[in-house]
Amino acid sequence: MREAAAADRGLLAQATLDNLNWNGPRFTMREVEDTPQFRHYYDGWPSGEDFGVVAEDAEAVAVAVVWLRYFTAQGPGYGFVADTIPELSIWVSADHRGQGIGGLLLRRISEIARSRGVTAISLSVEDGNPAARLYARHGFRPAPNGVPGCLLMEL
Ligand SMILES: CC(C)(COP(=O)(O)OP(=O)(O)OC[C@H]1O[C@@H](n2cnc3c(N)ncnc32)[C@H](O)[C@@H]1OP(=O)(O)O)[C@@H](O)C(=O)NCCC(=O)NCCS
Repeated sequence: MREAAAADRGLLAQATLDNLNWNGPRFTMREVEDTPQFRHYYDGWPSGEDFGVVAEDAEAVAVAVVWLRYFTAQGPGYGFVADTIPELSIWVSADHRGQGIGGLLLRRISEIARSRGVTAISLSVEDGNPAARLYARHGFRPAPNGVPGCLLMEL
């Protein structure tokens, strides 16, 4: 595992596309690039207090990434709760899923966030995505804002 750097923009873009297409093809990379609400998950990465972790295989090829971005009420992510609470995105490459990597990355990013004084992490998950079970196991609960699929984990 290593820290996600500015050079990982392409990885974050691919992960964002894959996450939007979790249930089958829905958007193209061109559409993601052309849609500010999608693109802002990786555009200008990292800015401010953003941070993330990349998991690599033995050949140093990235196979998974988890990252936290701070949004504002003026330009919120789908899991926006407050501008002091970063929003989490996570992606594991298709041939590495279901092996515990996602869980490992969630634990790691939570540890780092806690050590940096982050008090809570939010995210958005669509109805029916099996990832919701993983988030629940790691302590994410429906956010008090009541927005469907918006989850919050207090640190
Ligand atoms: C969600 C994801 C990051 C989890 O990483 P992972 O390494 O597969 O997860 P782990 O092996 O640590 O944990 C397994 C759990 O992940 C979830 N999961 C497993 N395979 C999955 C898949 N293909 N898609 C979504 N979630 C999956 C399930 O909750 C599973 O737990 P369960 O067996 O009790 O149902 C990864 O599967 C993924 O990138 N999925 C596709 C994109 C996506 O849905 N991203 C999240 C958008 S909110």
